[in-house]
Amino acid sequence: MCSVRYFLNSTPPNSDQTSPAATQSPSLPAFFTRYQGRIDEALRAELVGLKPDIYDIHRYYMGWQEIDGSDSNSTGGKRMRPTLAMLAADAVGGDLERATPIAVALEYVHNFSLIHDDLEDMDRMRHHRPTVWAVWGEPTAIVSGNAMLKIADAAAWKLRDVGVEEAVAIEAEAELTSHYLKMMEGQYLDISFETEESVSVEQYLDMIERKTGALIEASIYLGSLVAPRSGPDRQKALALKAIGYDLGRIFQIRDDVLGVWGGVETGKPVGADIKRKKKALPAVHVLSTSTGATADRLQQIFSAEGDLEQEDVHVVLEEMANLGTEKYCQSMAENRWLDCKRMIESLDLSGTTAEEFTELGEFLLVRES
Ligand code: IPE
Ligand code: IPE
Ligand code: MG
Ligand code: MG
Repeated sequence: MCSVRYFLNSTPPNSDQTSPAATQSPSLPAFFTRYQGRIDEALRAELVGLKPDIYDIHRYYMGWQEIDGSDSNSTGGKRMRPTLAMLAADAVGGDLERATPIAVALEYVHNFSLIHDDLEDMDRMRHHRPTVWAVWGEPTAIVSGNAMLKIADAAAWKLRDVGVEEAVAIEAEAELTSHYLKMMEGQYLDISFETEESVSVEQYLDMIERKTGALIEASIYLGSLVAPRSGPDRQKALALKAIGYDLGRIFQIRDDVLGVWGGVETGKPVGADIKRKKKALPAVHVLSTSTGATADRLQQIFSAEGDLEQEDVHVVLEEMANLGTEKYCQSMAENRWLDCKRMIESLDLSGTTAEEFTELGEFLLVRES
């Protein structure tokens, strides 16, 4: 493998915060296991036979290998996006085989985005393990991320191999591309907001709909679009897409809560968002709600050059506690969920999938990782 550049002989920063959790956190909904084997096998198949070391970086990040190339029993991520594509395929009574290439593509797009996101956010840990840039350096993280996006595109081309009609395959690929482009627009906004003194709730929602919502929406939409053997049921696929839109928003709001008040289960450094002046929902709330001398102090803290000092992080956290910021964020997600749940109930979804979408929404509100 190419050389390991960073702290392999030293303790990674924040390692005290990212060791496996001692307490039980809410588990993934049971339907995740229904698709797990199929998804894992198909994901691994995309890298079989690919020789240059760059793919060992991919195998590491996906959780299958350790840095030295030995087998790993790390779980990687939740595989939520391919699982949603499969659930959506089942929801329209479709064929899981037909949805598999797009499910695989979605997970590789997601992991590409994380490799770059770790670098963009300067996070050295994810999934309780050092990130690509922290191990192999920034240029390698850029190129291996780019390569992973191409692995995703190549996976999507295999829609034809599983019998998806050419016109539907082309449509699905175009949708995938436009959604990951939207994801990149969101990442750009997220980064540019770091240097904005204040960001409105509307600007924040627009940013998260792009950076996170787009891919979650695409997962549900594309799974339902390509899976039916008799061709797409567009009306149902669009209704499911609307559910994906709401779930994406709920997912990111909870992610922002975990970024400030999460525990070791996140596998990532907690508090880093505030330190880096990320305009995640807690920061948006505290900056727009605080008044008087504290508001002036916060303005001063957030307009200073560079990252926040630890004592300033404490000032921000204290004001968030005073203003009930955690509850505000959680309520925003819960309100969105009420609408989303009604929408799920109004659709005629196949088998047990309506209950399973509901189980997912309820999990997203309380997840710890
Ligand atoms: C994390 O997504 C990145 C965001 C879009 C907020 P996930 O929580 O789904 O990532 P995994 O489960 O670690 O892959
Ligand atoms: C990640 O958002 C979104 C994408 C990778 C597209 P965040 O930066 O908020 O997510 P975490 O907290 O690092 O997972
Ligand atoms: Mg990040
Ligand atoms: Mg980010």
